[in-house]
Amino acid sequence: MSSAAAMSAPDPLLEVSDLRTHFFTDAGVLPAVDGISFTLRRGRTLALVGESGCGKSVTSLSLLRLIQPPGRIVSGKILLHSARLGDIDIAALRSRDDLLYLVRGGLVSMIFQEPMTALSPVHTVGSQIMEAILLHRDISAAEARALTLDMLRKVGMAGAERCFDQYPHELSGGLRQRVVIAMALVCRPELLIADEPTTALDATIQAQILRLIQVLQREIGCAVLLITHDLGVVAQVADDVAVMYLGRLVEQGPVRTMLRRPRHPYTRGLLRSIPSLNTGRRLDSIPGTVPSLAEIPPGCPFHPRCAHARPGLCDRGGAPALTALSPTHSVACLRAEEIAEATP
Ligand SMILES: Nc1ncnc2c1ncn2[C@@H]1O[C@H](COP(=O)(O)OP(=O)(O)O)[C@@H](O)[C@H]1O
Ligand code: SF4
Ligand SMILES: [Mg+2]
Repeated sequence: MSSAAAMSAPDPLLEVSDLRTHFFTDAGVLPAVDGISFTLRRGRTLALVGESGCGKSVTSLSLLRLIQPPGRIVSGKILLHSARLGDIDIAALRSRDDLLYLVRGGLVSMIFQEPMTALSPVHTVGSQIMEAILLHRDISAAEARALTLDMLRKVGMAGAERCFDQYPHELSGGLRQRVVIAMALVCRPELLIADEPTTALDATIQAQILRLIQVLQREIGCAVLLITHDLGVVAQVADDVAVMYLGRLVEQGPVRTMLRRPRHPYTRGLLRSIPSLNTGRRLDSIPGTVPSLAEIPPGCPFHPRCAHARPGLCDRGGAPALTALSPTHSVACLRAEEIAEATP
């Protein structure tokens, strides 16, 4: 990066280093997240992509310390440089630390694929959003009500007053996700983690919800960690992309580089499997499936599915380390250089 570019790049908000979250099961230790490091800059969007089962949700739950037994974070740092509360290593907080409650929902909030996981079926929409506000801010109920109505308007709920008194089951999936976004952003978090926020919705609603998240992100100035298995979504909203396979990052870089000059065969495979815009048909999918964490292949964990795998090289030793190709782009493939030359 040139010094001018370095000066214009926003400061890091979240620095995750060597995070490991393992599940201690009867089938053995499952390394669902196994030594990942990434940085999310203030106000920017980082997309974390990969097929189902690669450890994306375990990563997002780990960031908020929401992993339940038999899982636990076994090592690593989750450094949040909060503008409001200073530097916090979320991984090092004790589980009953008051700071952890301030982080959850106050500094960092999260939305999931299925809106009902975040909503209570027995409370009205308005009372749930008000409760989220009153948990984190010292204001009157009347002020909280006004903020709630304002937020419901911002997320595009027609008739905010009526919506305030409705129950989640009275709303469609798309409207419910809007309510969840209102609840997540009403305390103006510094970071929003969105785990497949549109996967359960149909295509037109998906685009609206993504746009809504972008508009509110700009207004609030929060950073977004967007988790998705859909690279089409990434092109629309991400500044940076990290690709995850079997608990590790295999490539990361700025979105333009990742979409135009991806180096890892797995990233290339994900890109080739985006359904064509014209025909809706998948051009080419990655052969095989993600193996179980109980049977991670030796050497490069991707080798059984990789068209570039070289016997005697890719199936030996440990997993390839993430190696910098440039100050912003890194890849974990032993043959990245040769592959780039052979297939421009
Ligand atoms: N509660 C759990 N108990 C045991 N293993 C789990 C549990 N949750 C997740 N895992 C393991 O972690 C892997 C990654 O899960 P997940 O992060 O949900 O994948 P993704 O979100 O990328 O689809 C799973 O395939 C599974 O092996
Ligand atoms: S290290 Fe070998 S098997 Fe792994 S992605 Fe690169 S070429 Fe494929
Ligand atoms: Mg998931």
